[in-house]
Amino acid sequence: MTTKVTTELEKLFDLSSQNDDIFTVCLTVDTGLEWQAVDECKLKICDNLRAFKDRGKIYFNVAFEDFPKILKLRSIDNVHIVGDVRYLEFDPENAELNLQRVIDSSHNYKQLKKCLNAWKSITKYPGKLYPTHQEYESAVSQYNVKKEENKNLIVEEKRGSRKRGCDPSLAKEDSILSYRVTCERNGKHTFDSSKIATIIGGELQDQYHWIVDLTSYQLEILSRVNNSEMILLLRVTNESLHRRNITYFGPTTLRATVAYNLISLAEPKPGEIIIDPMCGGGSIPIEAAIEFPECYILAGDNHDKAIERSRLNFDALNKSFKSNLIQWNVAYLPFKDSSIDVFVTDMPFGKRSGLKSDNRIFYKKYLIELARVVKLKHGRLVLLTYDRRSITIALQATQDLFKQKKTLGVNMGGLPAACYVLKRTNLTFEQFQTTINNKTTKNKTNSSSGD
Ligand SMILES: C[S@@+](CC[C@H](N)C(=O)[O-])C[C@H]1O[C@@H](n2cnc3c(N)ncnc32)[C@H](O)[C@@H]1O
Repeated sequence: MTTKVTTELEKLFDLSSQNDDIFTVCLTVDTGLEWQAVDECKLKICDNLRAFKDRGKIYFNVAFEDFPKILKLRSIDNVHIVGDVRYLEFDPENAELNLQRVIDSSHNYKQLKKCLNAWKSITKYPGKLYPTHQEYESAVSQYNVKKEENKNLIVEEKRGSRKRGCDPSLAKEDSILSYRVTCERNGKHTFDSSKIATIIGGELQDQYHWIVDLTSYQLEILSRVNNSEMILLLRVTNESLHRRNITYFGPTTLRATVAYNLISLAEPKPGEIIIDPMCGGGSIPIEAAIEFPECYILAGDNHDKAIERSRLNFDALNKSFKSNLIQWNVAYLPFKDSSIDVFVTDMPFGKRSGLKSDNRIFYKKYLIELARVVKLKHGRLVLLTYDRRSITIALQATQDLFKQKKTLGVNMGGLPAACYVLKRTNLTFEQFQTTINNKTTKNKTNSSSGD
């Protein structure tokens, strides 16, 4: 038997239950960047926000009036309203009993109506949330016709515009809510995820008379079973918020939300110059130009196609930015020593962009050049890479030039990556070169005297 401990989430949810205007929200973010997202929430929503993180998620309570601010955040992917949180003591063997517990709990979602009303208002869904059984019956009889109509509202599953279900705001006033329930599980259980989704979906249909639709749904309900904790989430975003800025995608296009988190790790200040020296299609410089308009943005790449793609992506936004795009090799940047404030970049990696064997040599070269041009003492670098071995070698070689302020393990689309925040030391580039030259001469002398 497991001992019941009140989790942070239960505490938050209990607090939100005591006030009709307060909601617990769950925001998703790339794993490893959760605290960056919390920092943005504190900055843009409320200074003393009490948030906590789980893998790839952050939770906190907000006032209803703050939802527009949440939907404008730059660091997060999806927004959910927490509709229920509870502890269920699952039996390690009795599957039937466990399923009955899930059914019983679904009869007792005390906050669900409050959350559904908020969902309707936030998503601007004009249709019926609480149809009568009769209304449901007549809607179901026209179901196939409606489904055909809904199909037109689903945005094609193309790269760059992958919406989930259909946009609730496009529904008609007399339409009856279409929905689906999905389930994510973590831990050992006597049931599988699809069983839980079916049970909760069925129970909700009995209670609310909604139309089940696995593809053209307006509302997605996610049941998250985390060992003994069951969380019910109502998805507010029908498209991840990272889908912005980029029209022309490349083989290694970075999500705009990750780009924002990387830039904010550098803590840019007004008037500073931010450079992405290996910009690919421009995700980082574009996000920087939009979100940090008081900075000057430069972007470069050595590949013609990357430069062209960046240009097209900037142009597609149809705005004027304080930015420039230059073709260069990051190993030979056209800047004076100690002249640039911030570099933020997503390093070449793997088969798609840079071979690992080459990276071992090139990363070191690149870091030395960045150390030359970034401002002494104040300059910052934020580097994202999947190639930890090569970056470790490069960091060892440049340890006198940079202080390592932060290292974050980031999981991006299932691939482990790492993000390094470096600050330039006071050692001038000449001093560094002199030390290197002296070491080389000493090594040569030692090896020749040993002959
Ligand atoms: C991981 S990709 C960057 C992807 C980019 N963040 C995006 O969202 O499209 C790395 C980029 O580094 C560029 N690159 C590789 N070696 C370079 C070099 N020596 N100088 C400049 N750019 C280089 C590649 O052409 C590639 O576009």
